[in-house]
Amino acid sequence: MPLLRSAFIALSRNRLLRHLGERSSIGIKLSSRFIAGMEIEDALRVAEAVNHQGMSVTLDSLGESVTSVAEAHKAADVYHRLLDAIAERKLDANVSVKLTQMGLGLSRDLAEGIAEDLVRHAHAARNFVRIDMEDSSLTQVTLDIVRRVHAKPDLRGSIGIVIQSYLYRSEADIEQLLADGIRVRLCKGAYKEPPEVAFPKKADVDANFIRLSCFLLDGPVYHGLATHDENMIAAIRSFATKHGIDSNRFEFQMLFGVRRDLQRQLVREGYKVRVYVPFGREWYPYFMRRLAERPANVFFLAKNLLRK
Ligand code: FDA
Repeated sequence: MPLLRSAFIALSRNRLLRHLGERSSIGIKLSSRFIAGMEIEDALRVAEAVNHQGMSVTLDSLGESVTSVAEAHKAADVYHRLLDAIAERKLDANVSVKLTQMGLGLSRDLAEGIAEDLVRHAHAARNFVRIDMEDSSLTQVTLDIVRRVHAKPDLRGSIGIVIQSYLYRSEADIEQLLADGIRVRLCKGAYKEPPEVAFPKKADVDANFIRLSCFLLDGPVYHGLATHDENMIAAIRSFATKHGIDSNRFEFQMLFGVRRDLQRQLVREGYKVRVYVPFGREWYPYFMRRLAERPANVFFLAKNLLRK
């Protein structure tokens, strides 16, 4: 399985396959299991439906690593439109943003300026921007940008970050973020990382996820625990119960199209759940990372395609 994971992660970076896949009707059909659709309107429709099922949403306009300043601003514009639409339609939704899509690969100042504008907009609309975490070469710069924006007194609380339990450094990062009072989404991590920076064994990643979840739950800030792993969820629930932590002091987060049964079950049991809803034409790298997490999805998707 680790071999298949690496293969899908390598495929996620293949430009030719990406070019062909994102334009093919079969590709679009296959991706629809994990992606709300190609347009903003598709994402808003899905967000409304998810809200009706008692869950919150975070919207992700797909795209990473833009190559021009104009593209970065265009990507940011989609998020500004999303923040307006969320407010107009009174959706229970925030947004998740990747800094490489906001031009981080071109200039830190550009990405930070765009992120700050988005957070300002979100703050005015009483909303929130979550900065997704990308590969480990970007961990420090992402933390620096989020901490600087959060340090502006008028923006405090309107920006949050993601921490990955597969990185050795995450415990120290969480200590610092807790001291700053920054909201964290904890996940295991979706990129291929070398053993110098990340635990190579899944058991260690899982154990670290549980340990870091407990640190987060122990504090006063509202955090998100992003996993579909029933063992992680059971450990979090048991820690919360043992320490008298009310179920509304944190949220579980899961991806659109993944373990919908578990999402609904947690809501029935009184837990808060937020669904990560990605949309847009640049779905290929995101889709491939989902296959990397569970290569059995390939057979599942192929079966569904043949059935249609
Ligand atoms: P794990 O991979 O161990 O899977 C546990 C079980 O969950 C599997 O056995 C299966 O049942 C189910 N499952 C997991 N993935 C599945 C899939 N794709 N299809 C079907 N079933 C699946 N990563 C990152 O590096 N930066 C980020 O910013 C984010 N953001 C983010 C937001 C949200 C809301 C979520 C849920 C996840 C992320 N991730 C992420 C991805 C995360 O790092 C991780 O790769 C996946 O969540 C898979 O890890 P699990 O904790 O689900 O466990």
